[in-house]
Parts: sequence; C-alpha cells; structure tokens
Amino acid sequence: APNISVANVKAHLSQLQSIATANGGNRAHGRPGYLASVNYVKGQLDAAGYTTVVQSFTYNGATGYNLIADWPGGDPDDVLMVGAHLDSVTAGPGINDNGSGSSANLEVALEVSRQALSTTKHLRFGWWGAEELGLRGSTAYVNSLSAAEKAKIKAYLNFDMVGSPNAGYFLYDGDNSDGVGSGPGPAGSAALEQTLKDYFTSIGVPTEGTDFDGRSDYGPFIANGIPAGGIFTGAEGTKTAAQATKWGGTSGTAFDVCYHRACDTTSNINDTALDRNSDAIAYAVWTIATSTPVPPG
Ligand code: PHE
Ligand code: ZN
Ligand code: ZN
Ligand code: ZN
Repeated sequence: APNISVANVKAHLSQLQSIATANGGNRAHGRPGYLASVNYVKGQLDAAGYTTVVQSFTYNGATGYNLIADWPGGDPDDVLMVGAHLDSVTAGPGINDNGSGSSANLEVALEVSRQALSTTKHLRFGWWGAEELGLRGSTAYVNSLSAAEKAKIKAYLNFDMVGSPNAGYFLYDGDNSDGVGSGPGPAGSAALEQTLKDYFTSIGVPTEGTDFDGRSDYGPFIANGIPAGGIFTGAEGTKTAAQATKWGGTSGTAFDVCYHRACDTTSNINDTALDRNSDAIAYAVWTIATSTPVPPG
C-alpha cells in the first residue's frame, strides 16, 4: 500500500479552512460553506476519473448533500465503501471534525487514481452531509438503497476525527473484544478492525477499542447489517495517564479541546496522527479492495 502524503492531506484541509473563512466561519448543513466543500471535493475527484453523484436530501428545512464517488472497475456485487462526514457544526470550521477524515479519504482516493489501481472489489467513496444533526446524510443514503443494493456493500469504513491534537489511536470495537461496543457489530466488522489494527502493529503503534454504538456515520450501515470499521483519535474525552504513556501527549486533557468549537482550525491538527491514519486508510483500502474474492459455492 502507498505512503499517503500528509502534505497533500493538509493542503485539502487548508482549502476547507479557506472555504469556512469565506463563508461565515463554518461548513455547516444548510450554509454556503457546506456546498462549497462538496464542490471542492467533487472537482478533485472528477478530474481524477471518478464517477461522482451529488445526492440531495432535506433536513430541518434545508437542502443537504451527499457526494458519492465510484472508482471504475471491480465486482459490482462486492462493494467496499469508504466514508466521512463533510459538514461542520455552526460554531467553527470543523477541520479536525471532520475535515480530517474527509481530506484523508480524498487523498487516498486521488492516490488510487494516480496508481490507476485495479481492484477486485468495487470501490466507492462517500462524503456525508448533516452528520452533526444526527447522521442525516448517511441515513438518507442508506435509506435510498434497495435491499439488493444494500446487500452488495460488503464493508463500510468510516473516518470521523483522525487528527485530534492530543490524539489517541482508537479503532471501532467491531468484535466487542474491548467490551466498549454495544455488542459485536455485523459479522465481518471484527475482520475490518483487525485489518486496521494490522497496520498500526506494523508501525509499532498500540491501539484501543472504542464504542461501536453508532455515534458516527457507520451507524445506519451497521443498523442494516453491513459490516463496518474505522479509526477515531478522540473528541471531548480526557486522555488518561496510561494513554499518555503509550501514545504521548498530555494526560488529564481532552483528545480535542477544540471539539465543536471555533478553534477547530488548521492549528487543531496533530500532523503525526493525521499522517499515520491516512496511511492506515490506504493500507485498508488496498488490502480489502484488491483481495482475491472467495469463490462462491
Ligand atoms: N460523530 C461525532 C461528531 O461528529 C464524533 C465521534 C466520532 C464520536 C467517532 C465518537 C466516535 O461530533
Ligand atoms: Zn464528526
Ligand atoms: Zn462533530
Ligand atoms: Zn475489538
């Protein structure tokens, strides 16, 4: 799997910051900074050879948008989907939450294009609207699929907050092995957690399980029986002394002191965490999307 350029990921974050600054300081649902964010990501993907669709939905009297991008090729009945929410809260520009996941996924998608990656699975990316108002965009997407289309999505990877300034390295606890899930996720979730974990093991970074309870856009996927996994570097929770010993950073302080605040700017990013997590996303995409499928029967 390729090494993703963290400089490129940060360049996308700078663009999202500029969009917020030019649009009243946020990229929230129903505000102009949100649609400008969609158009930025879409422009990058269209130029790279993706097939993109903007899906509209209505929430709270405002139009929301999901951006869906398909990379040509692979088995259309065996889909890997990779997603991130692109909206911010109204309080600030949402650079860690969730410019980070949105930009890391975008750069992985662009690297797929640069390498003209040939996949066995069909690879699809999604940027969700209105996550901050209750997973509205991802829910609208999943609800828009027929049962047959849902059944084709064999795995969903979600990245929401992957550059927290006082970062932890949390993986959604798909197998409930850490006892912090709300029970194991759909069969296959444990394997997704393990694939991500394999990457962190390879670079010598310990991980912990975190709640697999639906507090981000994987929620509507697992509610429909689709296996899911993902990485999270922490939000309002406090880093313990034991976590600071193994990960560095500051104990007794939140993973992200600027969570949902105006100070969630490009200054609110831990470059090391963003770099490692972007590489982990690429590792998972390459590993899963180019794996040899088990023949039926
Ligand atoms: N979904 C939360 C938000 O956007 C952040 C979060 C992500 C919390 C993953 C837990 C796990 O505010
Ligand atoms: Zn978020
Ligand atoms: Zn949030
Ligand atoms: Zn686990």
